[in-house]
Amino acid sequence: MSDDSIESLDEVVSDNPTKTLWHGRFGEGPSAELLAFTVSLHFDKRLAEVDIDGSRAHVTMLTRQGLLVEDERAAIVAALEQVRQELATNTFEFAPSDEDIHTAIERRVTEIAGDAGGKLHTGRSRNDQVATDLRLWLRIAGKDQIERIQALQSVLIRRALEAEEDYLPGYTHLQRAQPVLLAHHLLAHVWALSRDVDRWFDCLARADVCPLGAGALAGSSLPLDPVFSAQQLEFARPFENSLDAVSDRDFVAEALFCATMTQIHLSRIGEEIVLWTTEEFGFLRLSDGYSTGSSMLPQKKNPDIAELARGKAGRLIGDLTGFLATLKGLPLSYNRDLQEDKEPLFDAIDTCALTLGAIAGLLDTATVVPERMREAADSPANAATDLAEHLVRQGVPFREAHAVVGNLVRQSIERGVGLDELVEADPRLGPEAIPLLQPGAGVKRRTSPGGAGPGPLEEQLRLVNERLNEQRSRLA
Ligand code: ARG
Repeated sequence: MSDDSIESLDEVVSDNPTKTLWHGRFGEGPSAELLAFTVSLHFDKRLAEVDIDGSRAHVTMLTRQGLLVEDERAAIVAALEQVRQELATNTFEFAPSDEDIHTAIERRVTEIAGDAGGKLHTGRSRNDQVATDLRLWLRIAGKDQIERIQALQSVLIRRALEAEEDYLPGYTHLQRAQPVLLAHHLLAHVWALSRDVDRWFDCLARADVCPLGAGALAGSSLPLDPVFSAQQLEFARPFENSLDAVSDRDFVAEALFCATMTQIHLSRIGEEIVLWTTEEFGFLRLSDGYSTGSSMLPQKKNPDIAELARGKAGRLIGDLTGFLATLKGLPLSYNRDLQEDKEPLFDAIDTCALTLGAIAGLLDTATVVPERMREAADSPANAATDLAEHLVRQGVPFREAHAVVGNLVRQSIERGVGLDELVEADPRLGPEAIPLLQPGAGVKRRTSPGGAGPGPLEEQLRLVNERLNEQRSRLA
């Protein structure tokens, strides 16, 4: 809400008591402070479209149940569509008493449709209405999140295919461990993201319940038909318990977790981008369009997108945990606290959507520096496990083989002698172990299923495509 509209509230309240949805029960109009504090219009405006859809379904149900006549239904539907038009063209005039989008739309429908408009809210409360709206909104938003995750996966897969034989050190504890194909590394992120997609499917399936007909909390004495309302809005099923229907926000918490988990995955990708683009690593160069410069340091090229992906994860964790704290301790059924569901949800979904697009663009346009990756991966110590496994193949117990090779690595460091020299001179290893230390040899030896070498990668690509196609057809 603009400052103007807040200022004008005083006037309206004193000269002309603002007409609330509950004006019959109240002698006085609402105070300016109450309106300013309780208003949610500035953020729940974005529920307008689904609110209108829900109202259309509701009046159709009322008509079928004999609670409205056809002319009344037609007048309300025409008014709702006019409101949709006014909102879309920014010609809708909000009134100071419009504390939320539901109030605003009902007020305007009544202005347009007259007495018929006054029947729109028959057998309905904003409590079942807002819960319905948010589920409808989430259905669209969740699908959009899935599509954005899939777009990032496509970029990662394309880069993986382009990477061909490129390899880099795989790390544990951020210490060089064993060489891995770059494609394998990139696909690791694709798998994580595919779990995010599955999580969204699960979340959306559980959220697929229509609360319409629960009323304020207890249903109604009128012959409502929640099954028909649910069908019209293409929900999988109606609510079973009216108290639960208006107080359940599990679906919001779950959606917040889905978005937060994705953001955390993006944060981890972001952290790798930050590392890889340092001069120290030098594995990746960012395109100009997806990096920033410094206002003072002319030489700088900064990975701000990657850093913000990381930074904004903190914000989403806040959205999730803040909302869980809101829910904690709420008695049945609807409590106004629940109005606090929308801002964190919208923020988390918006932030994650933006991050997905930015990281996808960054990865799509960045340049890989395979020489630097190779150089880092080819240091002979990265072949230590292969040396130990060479001994295992000759029957040496692994624990002993580990000690033999570990000892050689220590001597190499302490005496400043090349590991290859020590390997060649060692009676158990000798010249036949030398090929294991050759540049590029290690990654080819990662042959076990799901491993980091070219053999298992082929199978992995088949599996990842299968999984992604299955998820794509599930979405369609
Ligand atoms: N704006 C409110 C919300 O988002 C609508 C429900 C208000 N219900 C009520 N009983 N005051 O939760």
